[in-house]
Amino acid sequence: FFHKIVLGIETSCDDTAAAVVDETGNVLGEAIHSQTQVHLKTGGIIPPVAQQLHRENIQRIVQEALSASRVSPGELSAIATTTKPGLALSLGVGLSFSLQLVDQLKKPFIPIHHMEAHALTIRLTNKVEFPFLVLLISGGHCLLALVQGVSDFLLLGKSLDIAPGDMLDKVARRLSLTKHPECSTMSGGKAIEHLAKQGNPFNFDIKPAMQRAKNCDFSFTGLQHIIDKIIMQKEKEEGVEKGHILSSAADIAATVQHTTACHIVKRTHRAILFCKQRDLLPQRNAVLVVSGGVASNLYIRRALEILTNATKCTLLCPPPRLCTDNGIMIAWNGIERLRAGLGILHDVEGIRYEPK
Ligand code: KG4
Ligand code: ZN
Repeated sequence: FFHKIVLGIETSCDDTAAAVVDETGNVLGEAIHSQTQVHLKTGGIIPPVAQQLHRENIQRIVQEALSASRVSPGELSAIATTTKPGLALSLGVGLSFSLQLVDQLKKPFIPIHHMEAHALTIRLTNKVEFPFLVLLISGGHCLLALVQGVSDFLLLGKSLDIAPGDMLDKVARRLSLTKHPECSTMSGGKAIEHLAKQGNPFNFDIKPAMQRAKNCDFSFTGLQHIIDKIIMQKEKEEGVEKGHILSSAADIAATVQHTTACHIVKRTHRAILFCKQRDLLPQRNAVLVVSGGVASNLYIRRALEILTNATKCTLLCPPPRLCTDNGIMIAWNGIERLRAGLGILHDVEGIRYEPK
């Protein structure tokens, strides 16, 4: 009896993360270093800065995950690392570190597609069989896909412009919510959710996006521009200077949250209907997995619950720490690929990886 154990390494964006996970889904060790505070100061990620921070932390983070697991490097079945998509400079740090380790330990290497890892995470915590629908909504991701197998994805929709979390962050910044006493330390999306509880979402008349688009794509810049205009007008009306808190801020937050929820629900509804009509999903108890930072928004989650109840689907969300970028999902994706016998490289010399 041979027990599979995988070391997963993730550096695609601004988190340096590693974890050791076994075949049964036990997380034996994990470590993560987040660069968020550094990037908040510069108002966004500067790729060479992210690269430098990954370089400074990767050795320690991988060591911490391994030590915590009490697994000796020799016991590892394989090393799995995110190779795309992401920031090229960030990905490069994880990849070259992993290839050195692979060479040193003489272990198989499993290149991981970051979105595949996000989508499969639910199978670590819940017993979910293929096929299922996945909706990934965060600051950097926005996609709807039918997951038919470990490496068998049907992309149903994506954002044509920015991701919903990115849009909420921009609106929060424009509303100067970090200056609001109640939400100074919250991410943009969280600040909007908090303030929206005190506001009326129906004070402004907003035309929904992409009403005629016969697909499952998303768009969020239109809403961002509409909200920008409303803010400008309210600043005039209330005689408030740019950079100060509007008295209508809560109504604006409630409006942007409600409109975002409606858009996400409508596009997801189309995906559910599309799949059911073609028998790609079971008629009853089809699973919709929702993940990413924006999935922690309870208003959006509630709206998706209404949708899944109405369409006889089951809504599942991974726990918050697995919704955002982490090493566990990469290691787990490695386990899934080992079990399926997919994409395991025994000779990494001159590798060039093109995921499906
Ligand atoms: O998954 P995540 O931590 O990082 C990536 O983007 O990869 O997601 C962060 C995003 C940010 O845009 C943040 O504003 C948003 O998720 N977010 C939320 C909430 N909490 C975080 N958006 C809406 N409501 C929330 N409660
Ligand atoms: Zn991610």
